Amino acid sequence: MNDGRAGPPPARSRCWERLVLDSGLPRLEARILLAHASARSREWLVAHGDEAADADAAHAFAALVRRRRAGEPIAYLTGTREFYGRAFEVSPQVLIPRPETELLVGQVLARARAAARVLDLGTGSGAIAVSLVCERADLRVTATDRDGEALAVAHRNAQRLAASALASGRLQWRTGHWWTAVDAAEVYDVVASNPPYIEVGDPHLGQGDLRHEPHGALAAGADGLAALCEIVAGAPPHLRTGGWLLLEHGHGQGDAVRALLAAAGFGETGTLRDAAGLPRVTLGRKPE
Ligand SMILES: C[S@@+](CC[C@H](N)C(=O)[O-])C[C@H]1O[C@@H](n2cnc3c(N)ncnc32)[C@H](O)[C@@H]1O
Repeated sequence: MNDGRAGPPPARSRCWERLVLDSGLPRLEARILLAHASARSREWLVAHGDEAADADAAHAFAALVRRRRAGEPIAYLTGTREFYGRAFEVSPQVLIPRPETELLVGQVLARARAAARVLDLGTGSGAIAVSLVCERADLRVTATDRDGEALAVAHRNAQRLAASALASGRLQWRTGHWWTAVDAAEVYDVVASNPPYIEVGDPHLGQGDLRHEPHGALAAGADGLAALCEIVAGAPPHLRTGGWLLLEHGHGQGDAVRALLAAAGFGETGTLRDAAGLPRVTLGRKPE
């Protein structure tokens, strides 16, 4: 019989949903992190929300919540981000792939003829290149980056998502500064790039997720156009006649990028809008 002198009952661990609510994070973010910490799905966490959480998961979750509250991007905390329907590994060595970039991938797929040779300049996590070889078994894709650590992440993504393309040589990596990464005689049907395009002095670089992403993946000169200029200027000798150059850029840069393409002799130039309705991808064709 409990006569009141036995002390308090053992502390009961909190339930899964209580961990979510007490985290102080938006519920979706908290569930993503709790799913990662507990190796359970978000659906499972909702269905079992009133059950006691296990201690190890609660401990791991608390550490992730602290880091998130200090501003670290969710994708770096979980080490993954979905792009074009596939889960890509990401780390602080690579830009977190953005949904806007899916527009660029879709446009490459629409314009690449059968068995086309495609070049992805500045591949980062490999999001563009790996998506292309996964979507089209006929494409041969070369992907470059100047950063060897980024290429290591891209390679791991390809091993997991596109192992046969890697093994057959249909997907290849090159290291180097923009066009120096490819041989002078190499010619492609399509060249695509999502280069750095933010102005070096842009205050957004010090805010939100951007604070944690590699500066060299984001910023390009005082006007944000340095990388785009270099890529456009060097493209003509590396494109077959009739080949396409497609570039992602900031939503205020469409006019400038079309002017760059026209100055370099490209025709059929145009700028496409992303899902938010913002000018996001500019393209041009090397005249026949
Ligand atoms: C905006 S990120 C794009 C990454 C990836 N393609 C994506 O869309 O998620 C730009 C990439 O270009 C690379 N980069 C920056 N400057 C470069 C240069 N001079 N030569 C080659 N790659 C460069 C960065 O390392 C980074 O991976």
